[in-house]
Amino acid sequence: MKILVTGGTGYIGSHTCVELIQAGHEVVIVDNLYNSSIDVLDKIEAICGVRPSFYEVDILDKEGLEKVFEENDFEAVIHFAGYKAVGESVAIPLTYYENNIAGSINLYQLMKKYEVRNLVFSSSATVYGDDFEVPFKEEYGLGTTTNPYGTTKKMNEMIITDMNLADKNNSAVLLRYFNPIGAHHSGLIGEIPNGIPNNLVPYIAQVASGQRDYLRVWGNDYDTVDGTGVRDYIHVVDLAKAHVKAIEYAASHKGTEVINIGTGRGYSVLEVLHAYEKACGQEIPYQIMDRRPGDIAVCYADTKKAEELLNFKAVYDIDRMCEDSYRFTCNLQKDR
Ligand code: NAD
Ligand code: UFG
Repeated sequence: MKILVTGGTGYIGSHTCVELIQAGHEVVIVDNLYNSSIDVLDKIEAICGVRPSFYEVDILDKEGLEKVFEENDFEAVIHFAGYKAVGESVAIPLTYYENNIAGSINLYQLMKKYEVRNLVFSSSATVYGDDFEVPFKEEYGLGTTTNPYGTTKKMNEMIITDMNLADKNNSAVLLRYFNPIGAHHSGLIGEIPNGIPNNLVPYIAQVASGQRDYLRVWGNDYDTVDGTGVRDYIHVVDLAKAHVKAIEYAASHKGTEVINIGTGRGYSVLEVLHAYEKACGQEIPYQIMDRRPGDIAVCYADTKKAEELLNFKAVYDIDRMCEDSYRFTCNLQKDR
């Protein structure tokens, strides 16, 4: 299939492009390089021997985006492009709504105009909010989101669902990611945090590589195995492979499906820290702090639907996630 990948030079997008190319698909990337670098194209080419087509276009620029549709006959779209920092979305909500909602509507309107009927959208476990019991099941529906970023994911899910109710020939898979971490085993692509990382593993990676002194553990008084927060971490390469299955599913079915992508198993902050210590061969200092506002205690996926509909099951374990993250972090430092 010829697939448009918005946000394809980003963290999850770049890994997905690799898996799509390796599965025999043709990839065309649209990205404005707001949070990624053009060098990623060289890295994708180095890994799979094929360089994806690339347009430096902002999805808010509808005319620019339309040119991409005019020049290509797409069968499907995987839509990653968007802003993703929870805290920033609280500070500048309109910017988040503009980029993640207005930008997405431009894309969906062009898909309608050019009759591109198959879509995979990057949603998030954050749409469950704090309303439901773990494991989170797709049938719970949408919970109460606690920040504008989460609300943009929820609104996109609603927009796509309505769009496909109005046009029964459309097809969409809304993937609710849990916590993607790790990097490609080549060490060539991975997550490059912008400023001080908010997320756990990018922060641990910087402590392990000497860029920060210690990890701040946000609370150890939750009702969990050791009191620290529990999340369902999934290797980004597993997540990327799930996209290949999801877009192939979308191309052969109609309607809208919401599907969790996680491992179905949670790890606490300290369990992740210890796995990372094993991966980097050194102790990682940490301090227990107060809880971070907005955090929930435990979050992990019910993965049955992904297994049944997509025949998808994550294979990489937490040790491998940490090893691949550490390799990429060391390479990044060497390059600087
Ligand atoms: P990322 O920032 O690495 O990638 C997003 C890409 O989109 C970047 O390359 C950025 O330059 C591009 N982009 C942003 N706005 C754009 C615009 N207006 N026009 C064109 N390109 C634009 O993020 P990621 O971690 O790869 O996340 C990909 C998607 O998955 C996002 O929608 C994110 O919200 C979602 N998601 C991520 C996580 C996570 O933990 N990383 C979890 C759940 C959902
Ligand atoms: N944590 C720390 N110290 C840190 C960073 C995180 O102790 O420096 C803890 C958090 O308190 C939490 C766990 O590590 O218990 C994971 O935190 P992350 O920030 O890595 O991930 P979250 O689960 O909070 O958030 C992620 C994504 C969001 C998404 C959400 C739900 O970053 O975009 O999952 O899917 F909305």
